[in-house]
Amino acid sequence: MSSQITIALSKGRILKETLPLLKAAGIEPAEDPDKSRKLVIGTTHPHVDLLIVRASDVPTYVEYGAADMGVAGKDVLMEHGSSELYEPLDLKIAQCKLMTAGKVGAPKSYGRLKVATKFVNVAKQYYASQGVQADIIKLYGSMELAPLVGLADIIIDVVDTGNTLRANGLEPQELIAEISSRMVVNRASMKVKYKLIGQLLDQLAYAVEEKA
Ligand code: ADP
Ligand code: PRP
Ligand code: MG
Repeated sequence: MSSQITIALSKGRILKETLPLLKAAGIEPAEDPDKSRKLVIGTTHPHVDLLIVRASDVPTYVEYGAADMGVAGKDVLMEHGSSELYEPLDLKIAQCKLMTAGKVGAPKSYGRLKVATKFVNVAKQYYASQGVQADIIKLYGSMELAPLVGLADIIIDVVDTGNTLRANGLEPQELIAEISSRMVVNRASMKVKYKLIGQLLDQLAYAVEEKA
C-alpha cells in the first residue's frame, strides 16, 4: 500500500538515539526492537513500520526502495557513496569524528602508508586527495588493533571520547569529517509518498531543534 512507509534503522546507538525523535513524531515501536527477533516492527503510527537492518546496509535498503526512509551515520553514507539517496535531515545524533589515528609518538611516515579501515572507499578518496600513496587493508571491526600487531601504520575509524584509541596506545591524527546520523529518503518514495514523508520530516526536524 503506497500510504504505508518503512524506516530502516540499526540496533544499538542509532536505534537508542532515534527512538525519542520518532516518539516526538508520534511513532513508537509496538515491541522493543532490542528484545524482539522480528525484523519488521509495527508502530503506534498506523502508516509507519520499522525495519531492523545492519548499520552499513541502511543506504542499500533505501537506495533500492526496499525501505522508504532510513537512519545512517554520515560515515556509512560517505562510504556507500551513492548520489541516489536524498539526505534531507541531519538528526544530530551519534555524533563523532572520522579520523586517522596511529601509534602514540610514531614518526610521520613518508613512504607508502599501510592503512587499515572498514571505510575503504573513503580511505582511497582521502589519500588520493592528499596525493599520498596508501595500501588500504579492509577490516570489519576492532581497527584499533591493527597498528599494535603490525598489520597497518594507520587506521581510519570514528572517534568520540578517544577512549578506545588511548586504551590501545593510539592517538588521533587527521580529521576527515565531522559525523552525525542523517535521515535518508528514497527519491521515488519522496515523490510518491510526499504527504506522509514530508509531514514526518517536518515533525522530526522540529524534534531535532527542540532537543538542541
Ligand atoms: P556498527 O555496529 O556498524 O559499529 P554502531 O551502532 O556502532 O554500528 O554505529 C552506528 C553509527 O554511529 C556509525 O555509523 C557512526 O556514525 C556512529 N558512531 C559509531 N561509533 C560511535 C561512537 N563511539 N560515538 C558516537 N557515534 C558513533
Ligand atoms: C566505535 C568505534 C570506536 C569507538 C570510538 O566502536 O568503532 O572503536 O566507538 O569511540 P570512543 O572514541 O568514545 O572510544 P563501537 O563502540 O561502536 O563498537 P563496535 O566495535 O561494536 O562498533
Ligand atoms: Mg560500532
